[in-house]
Amino acid sequence: MIELRAVSKRFPGAAGHAVDRLTLMVPSGKTCALIGPSGCGKTTTIRMVNRLIEPTSGQILVEGQDVMSVDPVQLRRRIGYVIQQVGLFPHMTVAENVATVPRLLRWPKKRIVQRVEEMLHLVGLEPAEFVHRYPRHLSGGQRQRVGVARALAADPPVMLMDEPFGAVDPVVRSRLQGEFVNIMRDLKKTVVFVTHDVDEAIRMGDLVAIMKDGRLLQCDPPDRLLAAPKDTFVADFVGTDRALKRLALVKVGEAAEPLQAPPDAPSLLSESSLRDALAVLLAHGAETAAVVDSAGARVGRLSLGTIREAAARPA
Ligand SMILES: Nc1ncnc2c1ncn2[C@@H]1O[C@H](COP(=O)(O)OP(=O)(O)OP(=O)(O)O)[C@@H](O)[C@H]1O
Ligand SMILES: [Mg+2]
Repeated sequence: MIELRAVSKRFPGAAGHAVDRLTLMVPSGKTCALIGPSGCGKTTTIRMVNRLIEPTSGQILVEGQDVMSVDPVQLRRRIGYVIQQVGLFPHMTVAENVATVPRLLRWPKKRIVQRVEEMLHLVGLEPAEFVHRYPRHLSGGQRQRVGVARALAADPPVMLMDEPFGAVDPVVRSRLQGEFVNIMRDLKKTVVFVTHDVDEAIRMGDLVAIMKDGRLLQCDPPDRLLAAPKDTFVADFVGTDRALKRLALVKVGEAAEPLQAPPDAPSLLSESSLRDALAVLLAHGAETAAVVDSAGARVGRLSLGTIREAAARPA
């Protein structure tokens, strides 16, 4: 668990607070997306969690421990950190980069080698191909994967990630997002990640925290945020297509009725989203679609009416 209690930061000489009485709780194993306009205090917030920046006032607990009472070096070994702009060591190979913290912890050599291979597999990089390469010989997306592998290498329970997918193109980005969500869930990490991208926040966060001018405006699960934004800033920020974004969060299989669809109905995969379902129905000019599982068996039906109800349902 990560808990911030009325945390503020004022940089020396600055007119106002970079972070202003921020209170936020991320339960163990959950991912919180931190989002807001440039300069609103996101990076400052996560850097206070691992004490790269010290708060002016307030309290921060990581797994119940006040970060100010722990040795910062010890603290940082338990917290994986992926910085804005990746930050790999350019003069070190991929293997050496990933091994940074295990080496600091003086793990036996054999264990380090194993761990590096395991982590590269996890982020989808073939170890034999990548261990000896230098960061300059990697694509932006590959660098970002190495950054994530490095942060995960010592198996820290907590991960802080500052725009981890900032430098990659939209296609790779969307694949990395999906993989990243699965990795973090499987490993049960507690994660705070910063993003500029509302869709990314909604897709990846169990919680989405919106900041403005150093303050937290709203922190809620994505569906709740979209259904009930607290004020006009949040509503504008999450966008005018809120109803469509909510539909993207629900799988066809979750909303389908266990009934027969007409024989000529278009089919929908139960794994796809209601947003995709709407597009298919509109494209076919159909009221109802047949829902099929990954093996192609018909498992139910989905109608426009059901989609309409899902969009209107309170969170
Ligand atoms: N070391 C520093 N000294 C003085 N002011 C700082 C320092 N670091 C950050 N700030 C100021 O604090 C505010 C918050 O900065 P921060 O880096 O946390 O923003 P951010 O939300 O991460 O922005 P971005 O989305 O552009 O990365 C900004 O006004 C910034 O200029
Ligand atoms: Mg930042």
